[in-house]
Amino acid sequence: MSPSNGVRRITISDAPHHAGESVEIAGWLYNLRRSGKICFPQVRDGTGILQCVAVKSALPEQTFDELKDLTQESSLIVRGKLRAEPRAPGGYELDVESARIVQRVPESDPYPITPKDHGIDFLMDHRHLWLRSRRQHATLLVRHEVMKAIRDYLDSHGFVLVDTPIFTPAACEGTTTLFEVDYFEDEKVYLAQSGQLYGEATAMAFGKTYNFGPVFRAEKSKTRRHLTEFWMVEPEMAYANLEDVEHVAEELIVFVIGRVLEHRREELKELERDLSKLEAVKSPFPRISYDDAVKKLQSKGSEIPWGSDFGNADETLLTDDLDRPLIVEKFPSAVKAFYFQPDTERPNVVLGADFIAPEGYGEIVGGGQRIHDLDLLLKRLAEHNLPRETFDWYLDLRKFGSVPHGGFGMGIERFVAWMCGLEHIRETIAFPRMLYRTKP
Ligand code: 4AD
Ligand code: MG
Repeated sequence: MSPSNGVRRITISDAPHHAGESVEIAGWLYNLRRSGKICFPQVRDGTGILQCVAVKSALPEQTFDELKDLTQESSLIVRGKLRAEPRAPGGYELDVESARIVQRVPESDPYPITPKDHGIDFLMDHRHLWLRSRRQHATLLVRHEVMKAIRDYLDSHGFVLVDTPIFTPAACEGTTTLFEVDYFEDEKVYLAQSGQLYGEATAMAFGKTYNFGPVFRAEKSKTRRHLTEFWMVEPEMAYANLEDVEHVAEELIVFVIGRVLEHRREELKELERDLSKLEAVKSPFPRISYDDAVKKLQSKGSEIPWGSDFGNADETLLTDDLDRPLIVEKFPSAVKAFYFQPDTERPNVVLGADFIAPEGYGEIVGGGQRIHDLDLLLKRLAEHNLPRETFDWYLDLRKFGSVPHGGFGMGIERFVAWMCGLEHIRETIAFPRMLYRTKP
């Protein structure tokens, strides 16, 4: 539907460049106020919301009648003169000269999401429509910015994007959270929990790489931090140690927050996010060993014993006195995946690091240095009861020019939840997949 008669179709976000011009806006009716001979349809077009002014005496009778009774979320194309109006939300108003209703939502079956309070289940059931609401819209714009900033950072620091498969023959993060899929001829494959193992292969080919895509975890945990399908970015570097991994993750986080603050201020305002919390996130991030983290938790009243993994409550307690992420490093090998490189001085701990976000957002980054020695890796596979045959290709990486290497994974939804200050990560992805939700 291209414009005609020389009237330019613009987006609402572009309104500041067209004040005083006759323009056309194609969108949906967001809201409508009326008082007798005048009505104010608010139109949204995905880039913003624009208040329009329709005056009965200035319009053909039919046009005014159609507009004044238009139903929420009906689609329409309006034309008129754009005018700066400091009192209007957004700063501009459109004096309607003509309007065409593309599809009128019938009164008999009205748009289900109204300004009144709906319960979360109702909203989640209507997620395909809920995305049009202001907070959801703002959240997904922040997500877009986060993803773009991540790519920009990595692309400009020598990382090559090499995406990794989703159908995989083996576990990466442990066999208990694998989704099994029937492949052909009785073959079973699993949905990838992480692209890391393949990332290690691509790092040996390109030096520094990343993969960025959806991963799957059959976690039966119904918490505000867990999805069964989520997006992860996983940089991987050849000739790198734990220190290098921590450095890149920290720089990346600081960079992405800077971008979000620079480009998505309006959205953060819409979400009523306390910007000072994000502005406080600067380098250097504090670092603590797992040992000291356990001591810190115990001193704060936790009963966690050395050797056990942190739960949500531990992560929150550990960072409640901090304004930026905490790097916890050198975990007991027993709580980490098979591929972690042991510390040479203390072989019962591994060179892994988790980044715990402040404000209760939990672990946003997990990574570390990988085992590069063939014999040690074979030993670990056996200890974890992982079949050697499935990992033969992964073992090849230790036979043909093996080098110390490492990387990390950052969970996009947890990161976005933190940026937006959201209670639950379900709103940070367009169509969340959770223990009890696979629809819409
Ligand atoms: O700590 P994880 O399990 O690490 C890995 O998968 C490594 N293979 C990554 C690597 O080194 N390349 O997951 C990484 C991050 C976590 O820190 C968290 O942010 C997020 O992924 N994450 C989840 N996000 C949402 N729902 C879940 N169920 C998640 N599980 C992990
Ligand atoms: Mg982890």
